[in-house]
Amino acid sequence: MSNKDKRYKSTKEMIMEILSSSEASYISGESISEKLGVSRASIWKHINSLKKEGFDIESRSGLGYALKGKINNSLNPYAIKKGLKSQFIGQNIEYFESIDSTNTYASKIADKSSEGTVVIADEQTSGKGRIGRSWFSKDGIYFSVILKPEIELVKISFLTQLAGAALLQALKNIGVEAKIKWPNDIILNGKKIAGILTEMSAEIDRIFYVIVGIGINLYNQEFDYEIREKATSLLKEGYNIDREKLLQEFFKEFEKMYIDFLSDKKETVLEILRKESIVIGKEIYIISSGKRKKARALDIDSYGNLNIVLENSEHETVFTGEISIRGLESYI
Ligand code: BTN
Repeated sequence: MSNKDKRYKSTKEMIMEILSSSEASYISGESISEKLGVSRASIWKHINSLKKEGFDIESRSGLGYALKGKINNSLNPYAIKKGLKSQFIGQNIEYFESIDSTNTYASKIADKSSEGTVVIADEQTSGKGRIGRSWFSKDGIYFSVILKPEIELVKISFLTQLAGAALLQALKNIGVEAKIKWPNDIILNGKKIAGILTEMSAEIDRIFYVIVGIGINLYNQEFDYEIREKATSLLKEGYNIDREKLLQEFFKEFEKMYIDFLSDKKETVLEILRKESIVIGKEIYIISSGKRKKARALDIDSYGNLNIVLENSEHETVFTGEISIRGLESYI
């Protein structure tokens, strides 16, 4: 059985399922222990751990345990797993209410984790953005997917584009029509709602793992001064979405696109990238090493690179970097 086929449920997950299905009525530790074939001491340990994750579980002597709900507004990883429509992306979830960075943690556990393991947090204290920037990580959702693709190194950068396309599709599935600013900014009503940071560990001819990290602004009403003009959140734009559903949709779409990509099928991703691009056909500035060059964006090629034509009519392919769109007052 390959890692992709494993559908592993932990004891804690099974306890959550039993508690959720008994709809706030009490269920004894003994009957949970019989159902799962584990000791009552182990049930007690897992219940305590669930309480620490923010679940309001009441324990009454003679009656047992009852799940009353979630204490705070944190994410429910068990609800994600319950309705999961993917085979391996998200089948194994490591959830934190708060962590330094899901990418950093994912890279620590990547070697011993199965492909598709996802690290999710409600908050990051040292969220990382592209080009060494920090990523404001409150009131959103932050997650990192661990991948172990057996492909050439040069193909890795396409995974960022693939994640962007999957996120656009997932948002569309729940009724949010967003756009993409090459290479990896997800844009709603002219402002950024999500970013993607892909990191990897590799040798010249061998990839150990790739971490695709995504941060989505969900509930923010105010942003720090430096990003106020550039950033927005789904709620600010009028979308109060179901986080668990969005993640399930993303894992499903990402998995489909990733499996296709491994056998060199990139049409769906490229079609979304080109159709939803806010860059193609626009006058832009290419920003690299602190310098800006005027250009017109022509297309996204089959590797996910940006084809441009410069002012002197020379054609160029841009592999990575930053661009800004000329003539627009807003951030993009
Ligand atoms: C960008 O600069 O646009 C990329 C931002 C990527 C942020 C995400 S949040 C989850 C993951 N963990 C991190 O520390 N960064 C990425």
